[in-house]
Amino acid sequence: MDLRPYLEAALDAAYLAKGIHQYYQEKGFTHSTKSTPTDVVTQADHEAEAAIRALIAERFPDHVVLGEEQGQEGEGEFRWIVDPLDGTVNYAHGFPFYGVSIGLEVRGEVVLGVVLDTARGDLFTATKGGGAYLNGRPLRVSQRTTLVGSLLATGFPYDVARDPENLTYFQRALAKGLTVRRPGAAALDLANVAAGRLDGFWEVKLNPWDVAAGWLLITEAGGQVTGFQGEAYRLGNRYLVASNGRIHQALLEALQGR
Ligand code: IPD
Ligand code: CA
Ligand code: CA
Repeated sequence: MDLRPYLEAALDAAYLAKGIHQYYQEKGFTHSTKSTPTDVVTQADHEAEAAIRALIAERFPDHVVLGEEQGQEGEGEFRWIVDPLDGTVNYAHGFPFYGVSIGLEVRGEVVLGVVLDTARGDLFTATKGGGAYLNGRPLRVSQRTTLVGSLLATGFPYDVARDPENLTYFQRALAKGLTVRRPGAAALDLANVAAGRLDGFWEVKLNPWDVAAGWLLITEAGGQVTGFQGEAYRLGNRYLVASNGRIHQALLEALQGR
């Protein structure tokens, strides 16, 4: 399948979203909360999703969109999976680690992923079987073979106070003396695993829009993405462990407390 028209659309949509992020970052924005008092959504989240949806509807009227803010209507062979602003809490504070994530699934398989880091300007792209790229240069995961010395990352869901499961895994990793960050934007975390800037990442309550693009980026960059038992990852699974592949088994064992 020639993915070029879809890649072009994904890039145009990602840059539209970036422009909206930047516009409201400068102008100021209204915000409200969703599932918990810390689950923030801003004008930029809503407007970026609306802009991405409008672009896709114009170019591919029969395609379906699953977006974080508006959900999904209908079914179709082509489904775009969109996080219009990943890292909203960072964004709301002006902490420069946030961006947009756009994946395209065709008949149930993710074939294209674009993550654009608004603040740094880094553009991560991947197509199924076509490799992963950062700003046009081919990407490879890191070569590190040991957990000690690896730079790991995780994230916490907004309801962590009610459901502290990831605190257990986080504590296990820290108690082993491992180096773990919590950057606050899962799609960018995954993209940075693909780029070899992080060696591994895990999270326990992710949504398809956090994962679709980053998952393809990592597999196309030579890394590995699984569930917590090492089983193949499937979009919709909320438990995810990602790595350069070389440290994967050791990371799974560390999270299990072994
Ligand atoms: C969140 C971020 C965060 C992760 C949460 C996500 P949002 O997405 O990716 O890093 O820990 O699980 O919900 O709300 O900023 O798009
Ligand atoms: Ca997100
Ligand atoms: Ca979001």
